[in-house]
This record gives sequence, C-alpha cells and structure tokens, in this order.
Amino acid sequence: MEDDVSRFLVQMLKEARDRLAQVNDLAMLEKARLYYFGKKDGQLVALLKDMRSYDVKARQLLNQTKTELLQLFVNKRAALEEKALQDKLRQQSIDVSLLGRDTEVGRWHLITQQYRRLNRILAHLGFTIFEGPEIEDEFHNFTALNMPKHHPARSVHDTFYLNARPTVKQTPYLLRTHTSTIQIRFMKDNPPPFRVASIGRVYRRDSDLTHTPMFHQLEGLWIDEKVSFADLKGLLQVLLQSFFEWKKLDVRIRPTYFPFTEPSAEVDIQCQKCVGKSCRLCGYSGWIEVLGCGMVHPNVLDKMEIDKEKYTGVAFGIGIERLALLHHGLDDLRHLFENDWRFLGQFT
Ligand code: PHE
Repeated sequence: MEDDVSRFLVQMLKEARDRLAQVNDLAMLEKARLYYFGKKDGQLVALLKDMRSYDVKARQLLNQTKTELLQLFVNKRAALEEKALQDKLRQQSIDVSLLGRDTEVGRWHLITQQYRRLNRILAHLGFTIFEGPEIEDEFHNFTALNMPKHHPARSVHDTFYLNARPTVKQTPYLLRTHTSTIQIRFMKDNPPPFRVASIGRVYRRDSDLTHTPMFHQLEGLWIDEKVSFADLKGLLQVLLQSFFEWKKLDVRIRPTYFPFTEPSAEVDIQCQKCVGKSCRLCGYSGWIEVLGCGMVHPNVLDKMEIDKEKYTGVAFGIGIERLALLHHGLDDLRHLFENDWRFLGQFT
C-alpha cells in the first residue's frame, strides 16, 4: 500500500512538472490547478480525503508532495506574471532612438524680410518710418504731387478707382499708386526739417512678367536747409551698399522725368552678376536700374506751405520686389505671391 501510494505520488509529481512546462498563460495554469487541487475531483484532494487510511510514512509523503506541488504552482505563476510584465513593457516601451517629428517654424515672407532690412538701414541713416492708408483720394495721390487733373503723368500711374463713375463733384477714391501719399500727409502736419520714409503696398493697372498689380514701395523724403543733389547721391549710395552688402558697389545717376521732382533721376547699380561688365541680366549694359529720385519740386513745397526759399528737399522711391529679385537672383516676380512654401521656405 505504502509503495503504491509512494509510486503514485512520485509519478504525479513528475507528470505535474511536465504539465506545467506546457502551461503558458494564467488560464492554463488555473486549469492545471483544478486538476490537482479542485475541490470536487482534484487528484491530490482525493488523496488527502483518504489520508486517514494511510500509515504515517504515506501521510508524510503525501504532505511533502502537496508542499512540492504547491511550490511548483507558485513558481509557475511567478514566472508567468513576470513574462506578462516583460511583454507589456516591451509593447509599451518608447523607442528613444526614433527621430522626433519636426514642427515647421514659420518665417517672414521674403518681402517682409527685405522691408525689415531696409527699415533698419534707414533708421541708421536718421529716417523715421511711417505708414498710411492704402485707399487714397486724388489730392494725396496726384494733385498735391504736382499732377493736376488731366495731367498726362496720371495715366502712367493708372490705377483702380473705387467709385464706379467719378463725377466732377465727387472726389474719387482710389488705391494709392505710390507711397508718396504718406509723405504728403506728413508734410501737411509737420514743419521741416525732417527725414521720413514710408513703406507699404501700392497698386497699378500693370500685370506681366516683371509687374504685378500690387507691389511694395519704399520712399524717403529729406527736407532741410541746403540739402543738395550731392547729399541725395551720397545717401542712396550708402543705402544701396548696405542693402546689397557690397562696400564698393557703384551707383550711376541718369536724368529722367517725374512730375514731383526737379531735377529727377533714375539710379542704376552695378550689375552684381557681371560686376559692371556685361551679361544677360543687365541687358549687356553692366548696370541695373533700381530706383527713382530727385529734388522735391518747388510746386510740391508750395502746396505744403513749406518756405521754398529756405528749405530744399530730396526724395527717392524704390520697388521692394525689384530689390528682392536682385538680392536673391530671382527670375520671376510672380513666385513672390504664389505662396508656395517650397519657394518661400528657402529664404531665412
Ligand atoms: N513715387 C515715384 C513712383 O512711384 C517714385 C519716386 C519717389 C520718384 C520719389 C522720385 C522721387 O514712381
């Protein structure tokens, strides 16, 4: 009897080891537990129930087997829980070697960048910057600037009128064609001497490869006693040299016509590409036109009630797109307004 029990128990323990080796989750473990310890028909429980009929040795053996079996289960449970934890950790772990996702940081539009550069340079040259309304009246845009009604120069600036059919009585409103309007507003309210500059959007009825109906302008006005054309040239030379970061950049002045300045001039800079020799960019002339300027016309000073015997003034006007084009060697003005990040993102 003893031997039978002992053989059976040894066999059961061996079998239990094999069984547990097959177990790989908690549900299977529970099944195995019931197989031995189930209250109704667990193998070990059945033996324990009959314990009284065994002799001392068999009882000892049974108890020992029970303890060993329990330990096997405890160990197996611990191993399964540890494995489950490791699996979970592996699943939820963060791979720190993976590259993060970049967020695009915005930047100024190329025109704004140029705008800010010019602002800084002009501030160094003693200019204060002003802005003004984009919707103007004829007086500020034309009449005050020595372009009375029916003056042919108005047609060069032809623009967008806001009143459908301007009558003689009604003052037509229009989209300003240049930022000189801001200078007029400033001169009406402030006595000289002063150096002011204006920056902003302007509108003209032009649209082709090198013209867009809206563009940006920068204008400067310097009124003081004895300001001369030589001062103007010096000022523009420093301005352009700083802008293009080219110390020896040469400028050239050619006479032209503007109704609001006399004498008037167009200013060319040396072509940056061929350094004044001759190439396609500069039309084989070595020079590129960048701005218009001149001495403020006495009629304009009169209209602004500035004493023209005492004061003289110089003025200049620059297209910002044109400067951007030259500065970055761009070939088509329209890229600037298409809002294509692949293009705009290149300029920092
Ligand atoms: N306002 C002129 C234009 O838009 C530019 C300019 C300004 C020319 C000042 C001379 C002096 O054409």
